[in-house]
Formats: sequence, structure tokens, C-alpha cells
Amino acid sequence: MKTALTPLSREDLQKLIDELLRDAASYPEKGLVADYIPELAKVDPEKLGIAVATVEGDLVKGGDADELFSIQSISKVFTLALALGKIGDDLWKRVGREPSGTSFDSIVQLEHERGVPRNPFINAGAIVIADVVLAGHQPREAIGHILHFVRFVTNDDSIAIDPAVARSETERGYRNRALANYMQAFGNLMHPVDLVLGVYFHHCAIAMNCCQLARAGLFLANEGRIPGSNASVVSPARARRINALMLTCGQYNASGDFAFRVGLPSKSGVGGGILAIVPGLASIAVWSPGLSDQGNSLVGTYVLERLAATAGWSIF
Ligand code: DON
Repeated sequence: MKTALTPLSREDLQKLIDELLRDAASYPEKGLVADYIPELAKVDPEKLGIAVATVEGDLVKGGDADELFSIQSISKVFTLALALGKIGDDLWKRVGREPSGTSFDSIVQLEHERGVPRNPFINAGAIVIADVVLAGHQPREAIGHILHFVRFVTNDDSIAIDPAVARSETERGYRNRALANYMQAFGNLMHPVDLVLGVYFHHCAIAMNCCQLARAGLFLANEGRIPGSNASVVSPARARRINALMLTCGQYNASGDFAFRVGLPSKSGVGGGILAIVPGLASIAVWSPGLSDQGNSLVGTYVLERLAATAGWSIF
């Protein structure tokens, strides 16, 4: 394991991003845009954006970095931080900390493991976390807390939920409804399924651009503090653990391959975004809507692989 990663100057970072974008344009495979949420199927598969926010305060970007996209499962990082802030380690009585080795929306392990999802990032785990965030509130308030958190860590009050995406997923969320009902049967949800899923679908429908998303991840690269203001979001120990979960579970059943190729804690979303954390240095957001079979951005992963290799930013 490396002890310290080396920062890149703003100019070198910009040069690298420009080169990566040129290179990615000729990547042979594009993957398929998610269509099980009909609203996401409308997104142009040719989009590609990247932004790198550094703990020193630089923000370097390229391509479609200013265009909004649906962050989907990347929002699970923020709800995890919120749920841990609310109930601390009690969370681990209801959600595990192991990679699942199964797809993000799989139900198979829930039967053997009595309704306790393997980790906070698979859909089942994030639904339990939505239940935790909901406790003591109306769904509208819980959604407001999540949005407030994301706006706080980015220092950007313009961030909002895309209502068409939330509606689209609500109409077609058959699998998530099955997962939630199944966990309810095991007593691992404290609120009615529809209310919990209302929170879950809405946080998945938060729209952000690469610049906002890269800034949102900075507290995880900076021992839990927002660089600049130095406001504490989570403790250093909690930031380390969230990064550990992102490394081991953030790409679902491709987490091992992602660690092998990229070597950074990360979280993907079916909107085609990936947030990757370079501990001590930077937070990176890439967006390319075409997905791999595991539901992670295909070109986005390639871009991160090249970036980490060229910059020497793998943590390994
Ligand atoms: O629940 C779902 O299926 C989506 N709202 C989120 C899934 C997701 O982003 C998986 N990520 N790659």
C-alpha cells in the first residue's frame, strides 16, 4: 500500500483530462443506457464529462462536465453518511459490510440472510438506509434532509431532484418494491414500504453535474472535512470507513475488477456517473451514460482507469 499520493498541478491535470477525453472518444465499446427506468433511456449515450476537485481548491473539468445527469446510486454515499450520523454503529445491526458479488438489485441473498442486506450500496441496503433517514419524519422532510446534505457538502443550493426521473422510477420500481416488501417481512423496515421507497426513489433522482458531484465527494478525500471552510461533515474514522465500503462494494459485482483496474474508492450510478475518491488529494466525477453488464459506466470506468494510472493515483 502506498503511503502518500502526489498531487498534480492544475495545468497538468487539465492536460491529462483533455488527453483522456480525446482517447475515450475512440473507445470501442459504449455500453447500453439504462432503460428499466424509462426516463434514463432518453439520455444521449455519447455524453462524456469529467471533473476533478482537489483538496487544494482547484476544479478542473472537461467535456460535458456542466451538464446535469441523474446521480442514482451515487446518492447512496450521502444517505449512508446521514444514516450513520443519525444512529451510528447501530446501523450495522440492519445492514452488512460485505461485498455482495451479486447485481445491485438482486434479492437472492436476502432469504438466506434473513432480510439483512449485504451492504449499504446494493438497492436493498440503501432501502434500509432510507428507512433510517425517514425515522421521526414525514417523507418530504427526509427527502429535504438528504437534499440539504448534498447542497451543504457542495455549497450549491441549486441542486435539485428531477421529478420526471423520480416519477419514472416510482412507476416502474417493481424490483425495489419486491426487495422492500421482503425486508419488511423480516422486520427490517420500520415504516410502510411506499413511504420508504418514496424517499429512496427521490434521492436516486437527484440531478447533478460532474463539477457539483466532484465537489460533493471532497469531504471523503479530506478526512471528513470540507476543504476551504474546514466544516466537519463526518469524523475522520467515518470518512475512512465510508471509503472502505466504496472500495469493496461501490461497484457491486464489479467492485473487485474496479479495484484491480482503477484502485480508488468509488460509487457508480445507473445514470452513468461515477464518483471516485483519491484520499488526501481529490474527488473525481465522470459521466458517460453507457453501462456495463453490471450497471456501471463503461467509458467512465475506462477514463478513471487511465486517469489513476497516468496520475499515479491508485491507492495500491
Ligand atoms: O434503484 C435503482 O435501481 C436505481 N434507482 C439505482 C440503481 C443504481 O444506480 C445502480 N448503479 N449502478
